Amino acid sequence: MKALVLAGGSGTRLRPFSYSMPKQLIPIANTPVLEYVLRNILDLGVTEIGVIVGDRGPEIRQAIGDGSQFGAQLTYIPQEAPLGLAHTVAIARDFLGDDDFVMYLGDNMLPDGIAGIAEEFAAHRPAAHVVVYKVPDPRAFGVAELGPGGEVLRLVEKPQQPRSDLALMGVYFFTAAIHEAVQAIEPSARGELEITDAIQWLVSSGADVRAGQYEGYWKDTGNVEDVLECNRHILESLKPAVDGEVDDASELVGPVIVEEGARIVRSRIEGPAIIGAGTVVEDSHIGAHTSIGRGCAVTGSRLEYSIALDGASVTGVQGLRSSVIGRSASVGTSGQSTDHYRLVVGDHTRVEVAA
Ligand code: G1P
Repeated sequence: MKALVLAGGSGTRLRPFSYSMPKQLIPIANTPVLEYVLRNILDLGVTEIGVIVGDRGPEIRQAIGDGSQFGAQLTYIPQEAPLGLAHTVAIARDFLGDDDFVMYLGDNMLPDGIAGIAEEFAAHRPAAHVVVYKVPDPRAFGVAELGPGGEVLRLVEKPQQPRSDLALMGVYFFTAAIHEAVQAIEPSARGELEITDAIQWLVSSGADVRAGQYEGYWKDTGNVEDVLECNRHILESLKPAVDGEVDDASELVGPVIVEEGARIVRSRIEGPAIIGAGTVVEDSHIGAHTSIGRGCAVTGSRLEYSIALDGASVTGVQGLRSSVIGRSASVGTSGQSTDHYRLVVGDHTRVEVAA
């Protein structure tokens, strides 16, 4: 068994962050989503992993290298443009050979792992095994219709009128039968070779295609709201550890990680929360479900249910919530008393002030 991890794509729904970083490196509890993905694959005992990369390949390589730090053996496969998930299978043909493989979208978070899915695949070894998850509105996903025994009757990519509430998750198990299917399909209306269409082609050709319903936690971290919600969920199982300095005038409540070299000065941190290495939190109140990256400065501020990426600073702002602050971005008061806001806001950025 091999694995194919998809770490290309343009990440338009995660702008402005995706302008400067691949969406698969967005940190959840200070760890890039892609690292959680690799760990789930390695937990299956699968170490030969192909990684599809696009324009942002160099940053992906910088983050995960050749995989040896995780015990993986990574093969990078460049995709010249985001031409679809089925296109990635086609360009990975040499790497995959005729082996069974798991295809895993690099922005999908499944902290409960995928061992159960792998077992279901191994039990029947169908041509394709997909995983579905009940969602209230599946229109943003591939949607499956299943028969009574878990066999797939029909799959449609992002239908306007979904015929079930079962969204396709970004984890698929395949035998080599998928290769004929990806060669047989045509690009969709959005100009991509859809894996959903390739699997539907298998269904129409009479191949055995099965689905399992996932019982664990799942988030496609494709937009800011889902990133924040996923960060909340992951922090819920945080094991506290204080490797940095916390002064006597500060208080940590609940599970808090203070990474090495971080300093907490005259502040209150309510867990679950994580404060990254080298960050300084001074005269501030950090509320639950907050991740502060490395090398940040939080001064005289109050924030909760938020994420600050590495090098961000927050100064003199009370009541930040549901916020994501990009790398080396600064949010704060000017230090002078003025009657106006001053904003230097990048493309596709969102600023919301109290009404
Ligand atoms: C892709 C698949 C879709 C699936 C989703 C899961 O969508 O095309 O069928 O439901 O991943 O994350 P995309 O993220 O490319 O819009």
